[in-house]
Amino acid sequence: ASDASFDGLAKKFEHLPLLDRYPSCFPDINPVDIYRSHITSILHDITGVDHSIIYPALQWTATLDKGDLMLAIPALRVKGKPDALGKEWLDKWPGSPLVEKPVQSGPFIPFFFKPGPLANTVIPMALSHRSDFGSNQAVGLKDQNDASKGRKRMIVEFSSPNIAKPFHAGHLRSTIIGGFISNLYKSAGWDVVTINYLGDWGKQYGVLALGFEKYGNEADLERDPINHLFHVYVKISRDVADQKDEADKLKAAGKEDEAKKLMDEGLDEQARKYFKKMTEGDEQALALWRRFRDFSIKRYKETYARLNIHFDEYSGESKVSEDDMQDAANKMKEMGLAEEHDGALLIDFVKNLSGKEGKQLGKAILRKKDGTALYLTRDISELLNREKRYNFDHMIYVIASEQDLHVKQFFKVVDMMGHKDIAAKCQHINFGLVLGMSTRKGTVKFLDVRYPTRMRPQKRQCVVISRHRLIPPQDILRDVGDHMHETMKKNDDKYKQVGNPVKTADILGISSVMVQDMLGKRINNYTFDLQRMTSFEGDTGPYLQYAHARLCSITRKAGLSEADIASADLSLLTEPMAINLLRVVSQWPDVVSNTLRTLEPTTILTYLFKMTHVLSTSYGHLRIVGSEVEVMKARMALYDSARIVLRNAMVLLGLSPLDRM
Ligand code: ARG
Repeated sequence: ASDASFDGLAKKFEHLPLLDRYPSCFPDINPVDIYRSHITSILHDITGVDHSIIYPALQWTATLDKGDLMLAIPALRVKGKPDALGKEWLDKWPGSPLVEKPVQSGPFIPFFFKPGPLANTVIPMALSHRSDFGSNQAVGLKDQNDASKGRKRMIVEFSSPNIAKPFHAGHLRSTIIGGFISNLYKSAGWDVVTINYLGDWGKQYGVLALGFEKYGNEADLERDPINHLFHVYVKISRDVADQKDEADKLKAAGKEDEAKKLMDEGLDEQARKYFKKMTEGDEQALALWRRFRDFSIKRYKETYARLNIHFDEYSGESKVSEDDMQDAANKMKEMGLAEEHDGALLIDFVKNLSGKEGKQLGKAILRKKDGTALYLTRDISELLNREKRYNFDHMIYVIASEQDLHVKQFFKVVDMMGHKDIAAKCQHINFGLVLGMSTRKGTVKFLDVRYPTRMRPQKRQCVVISRHRLIPPQDILRDVGDHMHETMKKNDDKYKQVGNPVKTADILGISSVMVQDMLGKRINNYTFDLQRMTSFEGDTGPYLQYAHARLCSITRKAGLSEADIASADLSLLTEPMAINLLRVVSQWPDVVSNTLRTLEPTTILTYLFKMTHVLSTSYGHLRIVGSEVEVMKARMALYDSARIVLRNAMVLLGLSPLDRM
C-alpha cells in the first residue's frame, strides 16, 4: 500500500514511481530507501518471494564499483543454483526509471542507480534539509515513539572522572564516545539526558582533606583547582605510603605493637574517620569537600565546552543516599541473595546463578565491615534511582572495558532484585585502552592540566609520577593544539589569512585527538601517536577539516546565491567523477541509520573518508571557476550537498567544522 507522503514524493520528483511501504523505510529523508522499496517491488514481481525477505536482503556495498545496493542471491532462499536463478530473474527484469539494468556478478546482483533521477532526488533533499539532512528525526518519531507517550527518553552516562585524580585518556575516550552517542540519539529524535557520574566520594576525600590541611591553599584552589587538588593528593598519598612502609619495617623488626600504633593513629586511619564523618553528614567535613567538587566541575565544564559537550546532570557517587543503599542491601539479604561474612555483606553469584554466568561474575562485596558501601552498591542504588528520577526507556553507560565485570555485576544484581525490566533497558558501551600514554608503573599523560611554563617538562613525551618524584603532567589537548600551531606557522602565506590562528590550532588539535580516538572500533586498543594524528595526510582530523575548509572556500569563490544553486540544471552532472560523488553523498542518511545499529563512530568516519577521497580526486575534473555558468551552478549544487554532508557528519561526531584554515 502506498502512503500519502510517498505519493507526494513521487509527484515532487516526477521520475519516481509509486513506492511500497515497508517498516523502517523512510524515503522522504533517506534516498536509498526509495531504491530499496522500488527494487523490492520489482524483485517480488519477478520471484514471488515475500517483500519482507527481499527488503532486508538488499545490502550495502563497500565500494562504488560493487554497485549502490547489492543482492546476494541465496539470501532470497529460493531453491536452485545462484547462477541459474540470477539469469532467470534478470531475463524478466522489466526496466526501471530509477535503476540501470543489472548485470549478475557471481552469486550477487549489483544495482546501480541511474544518475539523473538520483541527482534530482538527493541534491534538492540535501539543499533543503541542510543541517537536518541525515538526521533521522522523523525516523525516531515514527519508528520508536508511540504518539500517546511522546518521545522516548534515553539516558547516556559518560565521562565520569574522579575528582582530585587525573582525568586520564580513559575518561577522554568515554567523553568522546559518549558525546557522539548522545548526538546520534538526539538526531534520531530521542529525548536524551546526559549524566556525568563523578567519582566524588570515598575514603580518598578524607585523604584529600588531610592533604589540603597540610599542603593546600585557597588561592591555588581557586585559580587552578584540578591541578592543585591533584598535587595535594599526590603529596599526601606519598605520606600515607611512607607511613605504611614504616609500619612494615617495624613489623619486620618484630615491633608489632609500635607498628599497630602507627597505623591506628596514622593518616590512613584519620582519613577513614574523616570520610566516615562525611557519610554521617558532618557539615564541616562536607563543606570543604563540596568546594573541591564545585571548583572541579567548573573547570571540567571549560574542557567539555571545547569538546562541544554539555551535561544535563552532574551526578556522582556522593549523590547516592546511604539510606537507599541500606535498603538495597537489606533487600538483597532478605531475598537470600546476599550473606554476612565477617561483618561484611557479600553476594556470591556462583551460588545464586547456575553454570558459566555465575562463575564469570564470581563474588562481590556490597558493604564493608565498617558499614561503608562500595562502588558496586552505589551503582545499583543509583540505577534504581534514575529509574525513579527519569522513567527512562533506555540507558547507556559509556565505561571502559576494564570495568566489564563490574558493569555485568551491577546489571545482574538489579535483575536479581526483581527488576528484570529495568536491567533489560540498560546497555554498556565499552571501549579499549589508549596505549602509549599510561602504564601501571605510572607513566601518565593527562587531559588539560595547566602548568605555568617554568614547571612544564622539557621533554614532550610522557611524564613520570612516582612516589618520590613528580613531574607535572601535560595537557593532552593543549599539547596537540601547540603542535598544530607550529605546523600552521610553517606556511606563512596561509597562516596570515587565518583569522584566529590560536583558536584554529586548538580546534585542529582537538579534531586530531578525536578522530584518532574514533577511527577504530571502540573495543580495540589504540596507540596515541601525535605525529600520525596531526598529519594532513591519511585518515586524520586535520584531513577532514581541510576537506571542509576547502569546500567552504570553493563556495566563497564561486559567489553564487542560494537561489542560483537551487535552480541548477542537474542533468549537466555527467562526468564519472560527478556521478561518483553524487552516489556517495546519497548514502549519508543511510549511514546514519546504520550507525544507530552499530553505535560505532567508525561507521561514520569510514564513510567520511570514502567521501573525502572521492572529493579530493574530483576537484581537478569538476572545476568551478572558469566553467560555463550553468555548469558552474550544477557543480556548485553538488559540492554544496557534499559540504552539507561533511559538516553534518562532523557535528554528529562532536567536531567543530572549520570554514577556513
Ligand atoms: N569514575 C569511574 C572511574 O573513573 C567511572 C564511573 C563509571 N560509571 C559508573 N556508573 N560506574 O573509573
